[in-house]
Amino acid sequence: MSKYPKTKGLMGRGSEFLGSEYAILGGAMSWVSERNLVSAISNAGGFGVIACGAMTPDLLDAEIAGTKALTDKPFGVNLITMHPQLVDLIAVCGKHGVGHVVLAGGIPPKGSVEAIKAFGAKVIVFAPTLALAKKLLRSGGDALVIEGMEAGGHIGPVSTSVLAQEFLPVLSEDHLVFVAGGIGRGEAMAGYLEMGAVGVQLGTRFVCASESIAHPNFKKAFFRAGARDAVASVQVDARLPVIPVRALKNKGTEAFTAKQREVAQLLDEGAVEMAEAQLQIEHYWAGALRRAAIDGDIENGSLMAGQSVGMVTKEEPIAEIVDHLMAESEAALGRR
Ligand SMILES: Cc1cc2nc3c(=O)[nH]c(=O)nc-3n(C[C@H](O)[C@H](O)[C@H](O)COP(=O)(O)O)c2cc1C
Repeated sequence: MSKYPKTKGLMGRGSEFLGSEYAILGGAMSWVSERNLVSAISNAGGFGVIACGAMTPDLLDAEIAGTKALTDKPFGVNLITMHPQLVDLIAVCGKHGVGHVVLAGGIPPKGSVEAIKAFGAKVIVFAPTLALAKKLLRSGGDALVIEGMEAGGHIGPVSTSVLAQEFLPVLSEDHLVFVAGGIGRGEAMAGYLEMGAVGVQLGTRFVCASESIAHPNFKKAFFRAGARDAVASVQVDARLPVIPVRALKNKGTEAFTAKQREVAQLLDEGAVEMAEAQLQIEHYWAGALRRAAIDGDIENGSLMAGQSVGMVTKEEPIAEIVDHLMAESEAALGRR
């Protein structure tokens, strides 16, 4: 008999869709969600997702091949919709027969969903509003992730608990909805599953796994931090709408405010167009995260982390983290 029958029962549709034992997605995290972490999550029964981020098609090609060498379990690839080489990246996924592509960062450009489905992969989409979710699910999205503002990295304005109440009663009967943002323990997982989610997605909780290549300094910063240290960035110029990013407070958080002022001034002077200005902001984040997560400069780099960071207290193998989550969920459901 299965170890976690109640939780697995509620995850049934999600696990079937993913092809994994548990419907626990490892949220793609730029620089961190590479072959080691992704394969470890999939090998532990979850579903790892490679963060393509700003990778070139060649790099993604190598990362998928590298991941395949470490696991024979299914895993996915997360592509950012505004990547200038999105079409080529989709082709790389097709070449490797990737089973699931997650489209993040905005409305998928015309033809991208079709191009993914053409090689037989499932498409997972993000939607910040119910209206957009319905539209994306009508136009080819096979599953949806709703992500609340408790999450690490780029965030929307609404909390996970409210999104769950808005989306799940309406969509969960006919659609596959995964809940992300602020999940640090299995009890929360159980709650969203009971509300109709078919699975969950976690990022912050996996950053400090033994298999994660995140720099030891980055991991230490996570161990030290509490929920209130993971703050959302503030927009300084009304004309430059920046998507807020949740990260641990440090010098880098202040530097981002300065960067926005600098880009806003370039806009004032007509030195850059709006699209270019926003791209500069995005590049800033990718560079800043690398500086902290890979190079270990935790003062000046970006320490993207969700509010669940307070529940990350030590380095553990992914298999143990996944097992804890499942056991906590199972115990919670058992008490009902
Ligand atoms: C360090 C870090 C980097 C992230 N990078 C990305 C990314 O490149 N693309 C993306 O779609 N989401 C990114 N996310 C969000 C995660 O995929 C995931 O949805 C989120 O972490 C879930 O919320 P949680 O952190 O509260 O578990 C990132 C999150 C963190 C903590």
